[in-house]
Amino acid sequence: MGPGSSQEVQPAKNLSGSVRLPGDKSVSHRYAMLAAIAEGTTRLENFSAAVDCASTLRCIEALGAIVRREGPKVEIDGSGTLTVPSQPLDCGNSGSTMRMLSGIVAGHEFECELFGDESLSRRPMKRIIEPLTRMGADVRGTADDRPPLHIKGSKLRGVDYRPAVASAQVKSCVLFAGVLADGETTVEEEVRTRDHGELALRAFGVELTRTRTRVSLRGGQKLRSIEAYVPGDISSAAFFLCAAALFPESSLVLDSLLLNPTRAGILDILTAMGGKVSFLQVEQQHGELIGTIQFRPGKLKGATISGSQVAGLIDELPVLAAIAPYSEEGIEIRDARELRVKESDRIAAVAQNLRAMGAEVEEREDGLRVPGRQKLHGAEIKSFGDHRIAMAFAVAALRAEGPTIIDDASCIAVSYPDFLKDLDRLVSR
Ligand code: S3P
Repeated sequence: MGPGSSQEVQPAKNLSGSVRLPGDKSVSHRYAMLAAIAEGTTRLENFSAAVDCASTLRCIEALGAIVRREGPKVEIDGSGTLTVPSQPLDCGNSGSTMRMLSGIVAGHEFECELFGDESLSRRPMKRIIEPLTRMGADVRGTADDRPPLHIKGSKLRGVDYRPAVASAQVKSCVLFAGVLADGETTVEEEVRTRDHGELALRAFGVELTRTRTRVSLRGGQKLRSIEAYVPGDISSAAFFLCAAALFPESSLVLDSLLLNPTRAGILDILTAMGGKVSFLQVEQQHGELIGTIQFRPGKLKGATISGSQVAGLIDELPVLAAIAPYSEEGIEIRDARELRVKESDRIAAVAQNLRAMGAEVEEREDGLRVPGRQKLHGAEIKSFGDHRIAMAFAVAALRAEGPTIIDDASCIAVSYPDFLKDLDRLVSR
C-alpha cells in the first residue's frame, strides 16, 4: 500500500480465531532507547513492527548505537553513552520517540535537533521542554512550543516534578533524563499512567523506588543490557477485541499479550460492557505481565469513561467510540481533552466519521457521547493520517450496512502494518 492508498472494508458475520501480536509499541520504544545508553548487547525478540518504533531505531543509530534487525529480532549494541549525531533526528510520526528520546539526548553534552512529520510538528512539546529546562538543559521548540526541538544537552540536575498533564511519555522523559543527571529525580503524577518506563529502567539494572503515583531514582546509575521478548501490543489487540465484541458468537484468543495492569483498561471496560475475559496463562517478564487470554462477548452494554480511567484507555478510546452505536446504551467519554492533541484531533475525527456512517454523536470539548442501538451504513472514512482512526473505523465497518472505504489506510503501518491482513484472517463474511 502506498501513501494515500484507500482501502475497502466489507461487513462481516463473525470473528473467531487466535492471534499473536507484534511487540508492544510503548515497551519496544523504551527497551530500544535504554539499550542505546546501556553497556553491552541488548537482544529483543518480538520487537514492534510499527513504523514508529523503526523511527526510534533510526534515531538511536544516528546517536551511535549499533542496531541489527531481522524482522522482529533486534540486537542493539550500546556503549553506555551516545555520540553526537551528524544530522537532525527524524522522529517521523512518533510523539513517543520525540518526547522520550529528548530526555536522553538532553543528558548528553552535545547539540542536536529532533523533527517530525506534519502531524508530529503540530503536537505540544511544552510538557517536556519545561521539566528538561528545569533540569538544566536548553530545549527550544517553535514560538508555541511545537517541534522541531533544538536541544543543547548538558550535565543535568535531578528534579522533583509533577507533570501538569497525565502523560507516560513525559514521565519516562523525565526519568530517562534523571538517570543521567546528578542527584535524585522524582516524578509525582496526579493520575497513574502506564509504568513501562519504570519497569524498563529496573530491567536495565536501575534501582528506583515507587508508589502508585510517585517514582524516584538516583542519577548516575549504569545500565546493563538485557535479553527480552516484547509482549504483544495490547493497544493493537484492542481493535480485534472490540471487533469481537460486535458478534455474539465470536471467540478470540490472544497469546503472549501484554497484560500490564496500567494498560489493560480495555479488558476491564469490555468486561463491564458484558464480555468475558479468561486468563489462560499469565507470567512476568522483566516486570511486565504477559499471558494468553480468551475473549467472548456478551450483549454489548454501554459505558461511561471518565476521570482516572482515561489514562489507562487513552489509545483505545477511538475504537470504543466507534463501536458505541452498536451497544445497548451507548458510550460517554469525558475528561479526555488529550485526545485532541494526538496524531489527529481524535474527538473531531471520530465524531465526523461516525456521522458519515449515519450515527448520531454529541461532540464535546473533552469527549463524546455516542448513543447506542444505532444502525450504521458504509461510508467514505477520513483517517486524517491517523493509524488509530483508520483501524477504529475498519472495525466499525464490520457491522455497517454496505462497504466502507478508508481514504488513506497506509497510516495503519505507524503502529500495526499487518492489521488489515490479520483482521481479514479472523473475520468470516
Ligand atoms: C504512550 C503514552 C500515551 C499514548 C501513546 C504512547 C507511551 O501518550 O497515547 O500512544 O508509550 O508512553 P501520553 O503519555 O502522551 O498520554
